[in-house]
Amino acid sequence: MYVLGIETSCDETGVAIYHSKKGLINHVLHSQIDMHSEYGGVVPELASRDHIRKLVPLIKQTLNESHLLQSDINAIAYTAGPGLMGALLVGAATAQSLAWTWQIPSIAVHHMEGHLLAPMLEDNAPTFPFIALLISGGHTLLVKVEGIGKYELLGQSLDDAAGEAFDKTAKMLDLEYPGGPKLSALATQGQALIKFPRPMTDRPGLDFSFSGLKTFALNTINASEKTNQDKADIAASFQEAVADTLTIKCKRAIQQTGLKKLVVAGGVSANHQIRFCLSEMAKKEQIEIYFPRPEFCTDNGAMIAYAGCQRLLYGSQQGLEIYARPRWPMSELN
Ligand code: KG4
Ligand code: ZN
Repeated sequence: MYVLGIETSCDETGVAIYHSKKGLINHVLHSQIDMHSEYGGVVPELASRDHIRKLVPLIKQTLNESHLLQSDINAIAYTAGPGLMGALLVGAATAQSLAWTWQIPSIAVHHMEGHLLAPMLEDNAPTFPFIALLISGGHTLLVKVEGIGKYELLGQSLDDAAGEAFDKTAKMLDLEYPGGPKLSALATQGQALIKFPRPMTDRPGLDFSFSGLKTFALNTINASEKTNQDKADIAASFQEAVADTLTIKCKRAIQQTGLKKLVVAGGVSANHQIRFCLSEMAKKEQIEIYFPRPEFCTDNGAMIAYAGCQRLLYGSQQGLEIYARPRWPMSELN
């Protein structure tokens, strides 16, 4: 079964084709970063318009590069949420129009389920059950995963998501959008000399809170002379605090559940320091750790094609309604 996957939840237009037996056939991505960077962040209306411009050409490109015809496609998967409403609607309306025209089934995919399953696209894919740490621009979730759709939420951020904290702190350091990768690059030139707090690690539980780190960063920046070296040291210290905090909570989740596998996914999982800290912990705890390749950490069509394919194999499929949910708790998935 060839599944066409469409991702348009935020600022990347992603399209991919996944085959249930042959694996990932092809994926293409158009990033809107250049367009939004002028404004210092994602402008939702511009995002929607750009998805409209790019989506159909990208679908044609994916088919051409895969040497497939539209008649070869057996189903369509699209991101139905969470995300920006206008952006989601572009993907949903396009997917449903094609499904109706081509007379094939379609499936609405939860964006975070896409991230969660992205490591399955790798040769060394994890098997169930495992703990998943999902760290993106909008979410920080610790999930116990027993199988497709069998998700138990263990912890989440009570305020800012990890990516959001990276982006906001980057802005304070005068770094351009998207701040996460830029802050991470600046951190390589600094030393983690400033002791940032490790929020909520001194009490039991698996929830997170990152908004205090942002405030701590602001106060530290204001108290410094704002030299390039000061900024690099603050970036390194902030990044280390996020990495440590995530690592402490993951270790706790592993110890509480007794599970021996940890999956880390979502845009922030591309961060080298976070990958390093979590990998060191995994070695010490003698557990297996799995990350997607960096290009599948951030938003992409491949993870949506994969997640949609798994759901279709389980017999799920959707009617022709255009389904888009800007807010969609993962707990509602089954
Ligand atoms: O998963 P994603 O592409 O989109 C959402 O679903 O939100 O995640 C985007 C987030 C942004 O906050 C971005 O700054 C962050 O991931 N990010 C990073 C890195 N690469 C992307 N944060 C820290 N270090 C990175 N290398
Ligand atoms: Zn995402």
